[in-house]
Amino acid sequence: ESSDATKLKNLYNEAAKLFHHILVNTVMGEDAMQYLLKRGLTAEMITEFNLGFAPDKQLLLPFLQEKKADQDLLHRSGLFIETTEGKLRERFRNRIIFPIRDAQERTVAFSGRLLEKNSNLPKYLNSPETAIFNKRKLLFNFDKAKGEIRQKKFAILFEGFMDVLAAYRSGIKNGVASMGTSLTNEQVYLLERATQKLYICYDGDVPGQTATARALSLLDPVTKMTLGVIRMPEALDPDEYVQKYGTDAFKEIAQNTHETALAFYLHYYEQGRNLDNEDDQLAYLADVLKQLAQVISPVEQDIYLNQLAKRFGLEKSSLLSQLNEFIRKTG
Ligand code: CTP
Ligand code: MN
Ligand code: MN
Ligand code: MN
Ligand code: MN
Repeated sequence: ESSDATKLKNLYNEAAKLFHHILVNTVMGEDAMQYLLKRGLTAEMITEFNLGFAPDKQLLLPFLQEKKADQDLLHRSGLFIETTEGKLRERFRNRIIFPIRDAQERTVAFSGRLLEKNSNLPKYLNSPETAIFNKRKLLFNFDKAKGEIRQKKFAILFEGFMDVLAAYRSGIKNGVASMGTSLTNEQVYLLERATQKLYICYDGDVPGQTATARALSLLDPVTKMTLGVIRMPEALDPDEYVQKYGTDAFKEIAQNTHETALAFYLHYYEQGRNLDNEDDQLAYLADVLKQLAQVISPVEQDIYLNQLAKRFGLEKSSLLSQLNEFIRKTG
């Protein structure tokens, strides 16, 4: 690692300490603290994850300057934005700070969340790409979760910070987040080095479910990992699920209610369709059989063909012949 990278990481670690201190020990952090406690976090977890608060004040710059941080490094750190006069201004203002760490537990970036909805500003604001931060290559919480992933022999992939934290307080500590719905190949490599099994637990809303289908289709042809889905009901995200049904209920489904990729698709293709309507039913069956055509195991195919035949009151033989047609077409 270059000394420049080390210096940048030191800078982020100093900044993280300041933000944490502000959240936990100062009046400036009180609203943010209340907000996080109301969302179900505990003081212990706030410390464990080193969460912080960046107030709408010029504090970080003098703090780092006092620590003799190199001016040029400050410019390149992504912690500030340059005004037109070339002055530095804090990038994160009035935001709860989630430190993003690399696998070596070094803080390399921040994501800052607004306390209140503001349609003019993004809900989460991330550090820009720097010499030490490439969002594509990082999973939130991988540093803390990696031991638990190896021990439990599976990982759970979430979309967001609060989902990882909600899982954590439910006792599920092998969770990481892709920080959005676009899972990258680089993030997949990280997971593959740690485990053979991956369960996707994205948000239950349409974007989350669409992203689950996308992640499965990205992963399935290339990964050695066994894939599964933990599907959230009622369009909830995992954090909302915990709020609504409690930590025990979440722990139970996260540990015991894994769907196969195919079982996920059976639900997924129902979206926006009325299966009492014949056209919708045919389109649904075509989508499902196309997925089934990708499945190598004849036993698995048979199980789902029986299910579909029963559910729609169809002859299994006609489903089978359509399945075989899809298999021929996809080679
Ligand atoms: N995200 C982001 N920038 C945004 C919105 C989202 O980087 N403007 C990332 C964050 O990592 C966020 C994740 O995508 O956690 C999932 O987004 P979303 O489901 O919209 O947010 P939640 O995680 O549910 O946020 P919260 O519960 O705090 O409202
Ligand atoms: Mn500059
Ligand atoms: Mn979402
Ligand atoms: Mn969400
Ligand atoms: Mn949420």
